[in-house]
Amino acid sequence: MTGFRADPLDVLRLSAGSQRPRRLRRTAALRDLVRETTLAPDDLVYPLFVVPGRDIERPVASMPGVSQRSVDLLEAEARELESLGIKAVLLFGIPGSKDPVGAESYADDGVVQHAIRAFKHASSDLVVMTDVCMCEYTDHGHCGLLDAEGYVLNDETLEVLGRIAVSHGDAGADVVCPSGMMDGMVGAIRAALDQEGLERVAVLSYAVKYASAFYGPFRDAAEGAPAFGDRRSHQMDPANAREALREAALDVDQGADALMVKPALGYLDVVRAVHEQFPALPLAAYNVSGEYAMVKAAAANGWLDERAVVLEVLTGIRRAGADLVVTYHAKDAAGWLQDRS
Ligand code: PBG
Repeated sequence: MTGFRADPLDVLRLSAGSQRPRRLRRTAALRDLVRETTLAPDDLVYPLFVVPGRDIERPVASMPGVSQRSVDLLEAEARELESLGIKAVLLFGIPGSKDPVGAESYADDGVVQHAIRAFKHASSDLVVMTDVCMCEYTDHGHCGLLDAEGYVLNDETLEVLGRIAVSHGDAGADVVCPSGMMDGMVGAIRAALDQEGLERVAVLSYAVKYASAFYGPFRDAAEGAPAFGDRRSHQMDPANAREALREAALDVDQGADALMVKPALGYLDVVRAVHEQFPALPLAAYNVSGEYAMVKAAAANGWLDERAVVLEVLTGIRRAGADLVVTYHAKDAAGWLQDRS
């Protein structure tokens, strides 16, 4: 025995010597240089709720900072988005009247059709995307036509979805986004668009949409909560991930130009899986109303630093594999990103 006793701290210092990841975190410039994921205003899509009437800006109680807006206010909105570097909007219409078959959803003078034209008139650069679903337009609040038992009829609904997509395309929409989780919806919409000479209109499919409680605030904003029952007969079970790849593959086969996973935060594993399985298609993730409301509520209480949390959340969604993030935080985030640069 030599009596030599190693200093435990020395041993630690020696073993850490060659591997010190902290070297690359020492200064802001080094951190910028090695950052793996970027977040920019043109990665963001801003959702908007459009209502009939004039000069209406009606705040949505469960989504602070979000309002329903009338079409005449959209030109100012387009200017603001342009100045922030945001390149795309996703439009939802809240119709003047609802009925069992959602007829206003495909009316040429419907609220979304007017909104599309207003945006296209205000800015030829802005990408106009539209949600294609019946739930905001039906008096029962379901995403399709119903049978006598209240079950959403699949193939009968596809025909209506095709008409909605064509009416949006005719009004000038660049991208239509079917969100109703009907089987065959992408193929039906693609065929309807092509038949009407609307080959230029792209389809971004809400391919993987879960039956989520995080849509709660949206249903206030869009006034589209189901009057009875729920959406579990068509939206996916939150427990399933492999099934997401099946849904995505079907939509790719039917001609989807881009895919979406929704919601985002509880489903980042699914975002990653779809990104890896379909690397050639742009992937969007929807940072939904409930995710937004949680951050806003905590920030309003002073429990979270809103700016830091929002940028962290959006970066995390991008890191998981999303090319685009649909988010109600888009305008705030774009403003903060501009300040930072
Ligand atoms: C259906 C639709 C919904 C959302 C987007 N499109 C609601 C639903 O499926 O019940 C939810 C978006 C959000 O929560 O932010 N048209």
